[in-house]
Amino acid sequence: MKALVLSGGTGTRLRPFSHSLAKQLIPVANKPVLFYGLEAIAATGVREVGVVVGERGEQIQRAVGDGAAFGLRVTYIPQDRPAGLAHCVLIAEDFLGDDDFIMYLGDNVFLSGIQELTDAYDAVRPDAMITVQKVADPAEYGVAVNDANGRVRRLVEKSRDSVSDLAVAGAYVFSPAVHRAVRAIPPSVRGELEITDALQWMVDRDLRVHSHRYDGYWKDTGKVADLLDCNRAVIGALEPCIAGTVDRRSSVSGPVVVGKEAEVVGSSLIGPLIVGAGSTVRGSTVGPHTTIGTGCLVEDSTVADSVLLDGARLSGVGHLRHSLVGRDAWLTSEPGAHRLVVGDDSRVVIGA
Ligand code: G1P
Repeated sequence: MKALVLSGGTGTRLRPFSHSLAKQLIPVANKPVLFYGLEAIAATGVREVGVVVGERGEQIQRAVGDGAAFGLRVTYIPQDRPAGLAHCVLIAEDFLGDDDFIMYLGDNVFLSGIQELTDAYDAVRPDAMITVQKVADPAEYGVAVNDANGRVRRLVEKSRDSVSDLAVAGAYVFSPAVHRAVRAIPPSVRGELEITDALQWMVDRDLRVHSHRYDGYWKDTGKVADLLDCNRAVIGALEPCIAGTVDRRSSVSGPVVVGKEAEVVGSSLIGPLIVGAGSTVRGSTVGPHTTIGTGCLVEDSTVADSVLLDGARLSGVGHLRHSLVGRDAWLTSEPGAHRLVVGDDSRVVIGA
């Protein structure tokens, strides 16, 4: 079995971060989101991985390299435009050959890995296996309608009609039968070759498409709120560890990770929380459910339920919540006025 990791998407819903950083490299608990997928694939024993990359392909290649750090052999497959998930399969045909393969969306996180999916595939040996999970907002996803035996009867991509509340999650296993399907389907109304259409094509020709229900934590981190939720879930499971220095005037409660050469002075740290390596926290209350990147400064501020990327600085910020602060972004305060330099496509909510 091989794996195909899709990392070509532009991340329009994650602007402005995706203006400068591949959305698959945005960190969750200070680790690029894509690495969770590569680790999950490596844990299944698969070694040969094709990574489909788009306009930010160089950044991804720099971060992942030849894959050896993950125990993988990575081949990069360039996609000239984001033309859909099934298009990725089409352009990866030479790489995939006649092998079964895992298809993994590079911005998805499955907290307990995907071994259960490949095990289920090996047990049933269908023509394709999808992963599904019940969600409250099915219109945001592709959805599947199953029969009583978990065989898929219908798939619909992002529909307002309440067809099913079983969302199709971003990990699939395909037999080589999928190649005929991706060649046969026409582009959708949004002009893309949809993997849901390829799967429906298989269902309509009586090929066996099965679904595996994933009960663990799963998130598509394509939007800021989902990224913060995923960060929350991942750091909730971290082992506490204080490698940097926390002075006597500071307090630590709950699971807290303080990275190397980080310094915490006169502050209250509330876990789950990560203070990244080389960051300084002074006179502040930080956490819970918060990740501070590396080389950040947080002083005289209160921050909870948030993620600060590397080099971000907060100074005198009264109360920051549910926020994502970009690399080297500065937030400071000034009496009586809001003075902002806000990048393209940013969203700012100022508390009254
Ligand atoms: C894609 C798929 C959708 C699936 C989702 C899971 O949507 O098209 O069927 O439910 O991934 O993450 P996207 O997030 O690329 O819009």
